[in-house]
Amino acid sequence: MTKGLRFPVLAGVLGAALLATSAHAGQSRQEAQGRAVVQARCAACHAVTKTGESPNPAAPPFRRLHETYPVADVISAISRYPASWK
Ligand code: HEC
Repeated sequence: MTKGLRFPVLAGVLGAALLATSAHAGQSRQEAQGRAVVQARCAACHAVTKTGESPNPAAPPFRRLHETYPVADVISAISRYPASWK
């Protein structure tokens, strides 16, 4: 994965978490980019929206990630995904 891709993904994950908890969250361009990446690459397994369960029951919905996972470490989680994704 290129450096350019990681930050939009993080922004998308954080943006999804924020949107789930705040009705007033604005959407920056970076959040929109991240959301598109996350939609394309992660939504097959993870719920990436405010409601609904994950398509893969073992994959935590992104809006709940912050409850069990240090979201700042999401980059290291992403870096463990197969190289074909990057
Ligand atoms: C093929 C299905 C699948 C896809 C696609 C997928 N995930 Fe996951 N993910 C899982 C499963 C299953 C878990 C829970 C089990 C685990 O922790 O390994 C998980 C857990 C996680 C966790 C929790 C931390 C961890 O390592 O346990 C993070 C963060 C995460 N995924 C991020 C992502 C991101 C970001 C993407 C898109 C770039 C993504 N996932 C795409 C299946 C997937």
